[in-house]
Amino acid sequence: MLVFAVETSCDETSVCIMDQNKKIYSHIIFSQEIHKQFGGVVPELASRAHLDILQKITAIAFRDSGKKIGEIDFFAATCGPGLIGPLLIGTTFTKSLAIGCKKPFIPINHIESHVLSTTYNNSLTYPHLSLLLTGGHTQIYLVDNKKNISLLGESVDDAVGETFDKVAKILNLNYPGGPEIERCAKEGNELFFELPIPVIKNKNLNMSFSGIKTAVNIIAKKNIINEKFIADICASFQLCISKILIEKLSKSIESLKKQSIEIDSISVVGGVSNNKYISKKINDFANSKKLKVFFPIKEMMSDNAAMIAWNCIVKDKKLENIFFKPLPRLII
Ligand code: KG4
Ligand code: ZN
Repeated sequence: MLVFAVETSCDETSVCIMDQNKKIYSHIIFSQEIHKQFGGVVPELASRAHLDILQKITAIAFRDSGKKIGEIDFFAATCGPGLIGPLLIGTTFTKSLAIGCKKPFIPINHIESHVLSTTYNNSLTYPHLSLLLTGGHTQIYLVDNKKNISLLGESVDDAVGETFDKVAKILNLNYPGGPEIERCAKEGNELFFELPIPVIKNKNLNMSFSGIKTAVNIIAKKNIINEKFIADICASFQLCISKILIEKLSKSIESLKKQSIEIDSISVVGGVSNNKYISKKINDFANSKKLKVFFPIKEMMSDNAAMIAWNCIVKDKKLENIFFKPLPRLII
């Protein structure tokens, strides 16, 4: 079984050719540079860039893989969630190829693909927790098996990745802000600024990040933005984010325990899982609780088509299971 997968939900244009034995014949991720000058993604520009790039990287993927389009068994594309224009470009393009080749088109849920990305390179046991940290979502999932994934808690406002990007913009750092903040924080004192930790005392598993961005903005206005200030505020910001994530992971595990659901591992997925500081904090927490932590391979951390192909491969392709639908919420 050979899958051709497309990812265009935000500002990465990506295609992948993968077989059922996990072999990747080609995987191209094109990160659109045009958004850097705006400090965030401009949806219309993203759509136009996808339209331009998608055909080019598809031709390169087939050339490099040595595979012919007629050999593809399934054509898969991200159908949501994401920016509507970019999603329409990716799905229309992929559906057209599927129709032309008289092969099935498989709609894929982007979030589910991030959650399943760690199962590509790890033998995870079930149930486990999945901490999803992207530019659009911050969520904790209970993964019963590859098909039963339920939402336990999420950010009620900004996502963690979005908060990194917005804080970077306040500090005049480049977009995307995550890697920039991580780099600057290395030289900083994480105890220099005390940032608010919203909804930490709430019993539920939801999180909030927009107040932290506002707090950074207020502090930035009262200070001279020089190298030392940026280093200290970035380090303090990362500490604050990691405290929230760990507290909510801890609460999730406790709540599940009360329902006799024992978790022995955590999977951390999405673009923010690239962050070494946050990964280490989660690792330290997991070690203290005797839990295992799993991460995707590097090329499956940020948006990519390999996780879309992998989701298509592990998915039950019965008709009732192939339509895009949001993942259910579990109240614990
Ligand atoms: O998963 P992803 O590529 O796209 C979405 O589905 O949203 O995540 C993108 C986000 C961006 O907000 C980016 O700033 C963040 O991931 N990110 C990081 C790091 N690398 C990427 N955040 C913190 N530290 C990093 N090293
Ligand atoms: Zn994503």
